[in-house]
Amino acid sequence: MLPLGLLLLLVLLTGARLLWGQWGLRSPRLPPLAPGFLHLRQPGLPIYLLTLTQKLGPIYRLRLGLQDVVVLNSRRSIEEAMVKKREDFAGRPQNPSYRMMPHISEDLALGDYSPLWKAHKKLTRSALLLSMRNSAEVLVEQLAQEFCERMRAQAGAPVDIQEGFSLLTCSIICYLTFGVKEDSLSHAFHSSVQDLMKTWDHWSIQIVDIFPFLRFFPIPGFRRLKQAMENRERLVERQLRKHKKSMVAGQWRDLMDYMLQGIGERREERGLGHLHEGHVHMSVVDLFIGGTETTSLTLSWTVLFLLHHPEIQQRLQEEVDGELGPSASGSGIPYKDRARLPLLNATIAEVLRLRPVVPLALPHCATRSSSILGYDIPKGTVIIPNLQGAHLDASVWEQPHEFRPDRFLDPDASPNSLAFGCGPRVCLGESLARLELFVVLVKLLQAFTLLPAEGTLPSLQPQPHCCTNLKMEPFQVRLQPRVRGPQA
Ligand code: HEM
Ligand SMILES: *[C@@H]1O[C@H](CO)[C@@H](O)[C@H](O)[C@H]1NC(C)=O
Repeated sequence: MLPLGLLLLLVLLTGARLLWGQWGLRSPRLPPLAPGFLHLRQPGLPIYLLTLTQKLGPIYRLRLGLQDVVVLNSRRSIEEAMVKKREDFAGRPQNPSYRMMPHISEDLALGDYSPLWKAHKKLTRSALLLSMRNSAEVLVEQLAQEFCERMRAQAGAPVDIQEGFSLLTCSIICYLTFGVKEDSLSHAFHSSVQDLMKTWDHWSIQIVDIFPFLRFFPIPGFRRLKQAMENRERLVERQLRKHKKSMVAGQWRDLMDYMLQGIGERREERGLGHLHEGHVHMSVVDLFIGGTETTSLTLSWTVLFLLHHPEIQQRLQEEVDGELGPSASGSGIPYKDRARLPLLNATIAEVLRLRPVVPLALPHCATRSSSILGYDIPKGTVIIPNLQGAHLDASVWEQPHEFRPDRFLDPDASPNSLAFGCGPRVCLGESLARLELFVVLVKLLQAFTLLPAEGTLPSLQPQPHCCTNLKMEPFQVRLQPRVRGPQA
C-alpha cells in the first residue's frame, strides 16, 4: 500500500513540476515591485513616487491593499502607454466607491472605455468647442474684467484670490453650459462642487478603494458624500427640465441644448446602446468638477510663483504694456495673437510643468494584456501616470525644480506639456483652460502689481496630502493698482 502511495505522490509532484516549468516559461515579466505598503499615504505623493524610480526605474508596481498598480514616471513610458498603445490603456478602473454615485455608468471622466464612451466624449467635446466658438473669449474677458474691478475695490488690501479665481472659472462653465450669466446659479454650482470634492477627497472615501469591504461600515464621509451628490442631482435636473421646455429643435443656445439634441440624433444608431439624458447630466457634472478647481488652482499657482519672482512679473508687465501701448484702455490681446506675448506663454508652460494641478491624472486601466517599456501588463491592471514626476525628469530638464520660464522661450528646446494628459483620455477642457489662463493673466498683469500680503512670502510647497488636485496652503495677496493699467 505504502509504495503505491509514494508512487502516486511522485507522479503528482512530477506533474506539478512540469506544469510549473510551463508556467515558468510563460510567466509574465512584470515591472519591479516596490517593497512595503501604504505608499499612497506618503506626503507629497507625486514627488515620493518619483524618488522610487532611483531604485526601480521609471516603471514599477506598488501593492495597494489587495491589488497591484503600475506607476509610470517618465514621458516615454506615459506616451508609449497613452498615445502609442492608446486603446490598450484607455480604460478606467471601476472602483468600489464609484458605485455609490448615481448615474455613474453614464459618467465621462470615470466611465470605462467603450464605443458608447467614445461617442459620449466626442459629443461633449463638440458641444464645448461649439459653445466656446460662439462666445467664450468675449465672455472670459468680460468676467475677468469684472473680477479685476472687484479686486480694485479692495484698494490693495490683502485678498484671498484663490476663492475669487474659483468663482470666476465656475461662472465661465456655468455660462457656456446653461447660457445664463446669473450669479446665484454659479454660486449654487460652486458650493455644490466644492462640497463634492471635499467629501470625495476625504480619507474614508479613498480608503474604500483599497479595502472595498469597508463600505459596509457606517463611515461618516459616506453620508456627507451622499448628501452632496443629491444636492448636485437636483441642481442639474432643474436645468435639464428648463432646457427641454424652452428648447427649439434645430437651434441651440448653449452646451446643454447642443448635447440634448445630439443624443436625439444618435438614438438612431444601432449597436452598443445609445446616449441618453443621463449622459448629458454627467457631462455637465464633469465639466464643473473638471473645469473649476483645475484652472483656478493653476491661476493661483501662477500668482504664487510671481510673488516669489518679482523680476519675472516685471518682465511680463513690460511685455503686456509693450503690446497694448501706453493708451491701454481695458482692451486685451486676442487669444489668437498670443504669440505676441512669448514670455507669458512661457510662464504658463512653466507653471503647468512645475504644478500640473492633476499631478497623477486619473487612474487608467489596461483594457487588454499589453506591455510598457518591455514589461508585461496584464489586462485589468490599474495604471497611474505620474505627470508631475515626468515633468521633473532631470535628463530632460535642466535644474528641473527651478521656476525658469525662459526655458520655454525656445519652443524647439522643450518637449510639450503632459499637464493635460495625452491620448484618448486627454483632458476635455484643455483649449478652454488655456484660453482662460491667457485672458485672465493678461488682465491681471495689466491692472495690478502682485505683492505679498505681509512680510513673509506664502509657501510654494503643495499641501502634503492632497488627493486629486495639487493645492497650495491658503494664502493672501495684495493687488496694487498699476499707474498704467486700464482706467488708471
Ligand atoms: C489647467 C487646467 C486643467 C488641467 C491641468 C487639467 C488636467 C487634466 C488631466 C491630467 C486629466 C486626466 C487625463 C488622464 O486621465 O490621463 C483631465 C481629465 C479631464 N478634464 Fe481636465 N484639466 C484642466 C481643465 C479642465 C477644464 C477647464 C475642463 C472642462 C471644461 C476639464 C475637463 C476634464 C474632463 C471631462 C476630463 C476627463 C476626460 C476623460 O476621462 O476622458 N479639465 N484633466
Ligand atoms: C507657447 O509655448 C509653448 C511651450 O514652449 C510652445 O510649444 C508654443 O508653441 C507657444 N505658443 C505660442 C503661441 O507662442
